[in-house]
This record gives sequence, structure tokens and C-alpha cells, in this order.
Amino acid sequence: MSTTKLIRVTVNGKVHEANVEPRMLLTDFLRHELHLGGVHVGCEHGVCGICTILLDGRAVRSCLTLAVQADGHEIVTIEGISEDSELHPIQQAFVEEYGLQCGFCTPGFVMAIFELLRDNPKPTEAQIMDVIGGVLCRCTGYESIRRAVTSAIKKLQAGKSAVSA
Ligand code: FES
Ligand code: FES
Repeated sequence: MSTTKLIRVTVNGKVHEANVEPRMLLTDFLRHELHLGGVHVGCEHGVCGICTILLDGRAVRSCLTLAVQADGHEIVTIEGISEDSELHPIQQAFVEEYGLQCGFCTPGFVMAIFELLRDNPKPTEAQIMDVIGGVLCRCTGYESIRRAVTSAIKKLQAGKSAVSA
């Protein structure tokens, strides 16, 4: 009897089919089967938020999700948020505001902030702190990340005005 299960997932707009072991974590599937190295792994038990991806548009911790649970669903990773070789405005804001040092935590922050600003383009300070407090960073002290979110909000709003102008 086969111990693997065939899953079909859409990742960053591309459909993938694969046979996976029922216990394989979604994190491992994305990193090792699809070679999406932007999905970082920290604690591997749901605490640090570094492995955050979007599953059907919602930010989830991929280390708490089994690959088989993603069967039939849509995933976006850090590799899928920007077009061509351009950085997404949130990524650009992180660069400009020194929102990263070692960068290990950065994909988790960017994906969590992506969800926040998509659903709430003008979040309150408390809402911003609530989201960035859900991801662990050992380097920055968070102030530069908070500034990066503020900058990203401005960039996204400027982009929308340019489109509607
Ligand atoms: S690696 Fe998933 S929450 Fe830490
Ligand atoms: S930049 Fe190093 S852990 Fe956040």
C-alpha cells in the first residue's frame, strides 16, 4: 500500500502535483520539493512566524500545516509577491528603512504585512504592532520594521494614486 498521497496545489500561480508523505510539513514541501528557499524555517513549532506564507490569501505558519492539507488550495510565498525582478513595495520599504539585518526573519514579516496592508491599507499603530509582534526578529529591535511598514503604506498608496491618476 502506498504511504504517499497525491496533492495538487497552486503555488505562486503555478499548479504543482506531487506525491507526499502524509506527515510532510508544508514548509518542507515548499522548500525541498519546490525549491522555494524564501520560505525560512525558525522554530518549526508555530512560535516565531518566520515561515509565514499565504494559504488561500490568509497568512499562516507553514510549519504548522501539513502539505496534504494544502491539497486543492492556493499558496503564495515571498517569491510570488513581486512581478518580474522588481521588489514589492513592502520589500523596498524594508531595504530603505533598514528593516532587516541578517534577513532570516524577513520573509515572515513581509508576508504578514502583505496580508495586513492588502486587507487594511491604513492600519492603526496598534494594528501594525499586533502584526509585527507576531514574528520574531533577533536583530533589528523592531523600530526599523515599524518604520518600514509606515513607508510601505505610503508607497502602496502612491502606487494606487498613480494607477488611478
Ligand atoms: S518556523 Fe514556523 S512559526 Fe517558527
Ligand atoms: S533581521 Fe535577523 S532575525 Fe530579523
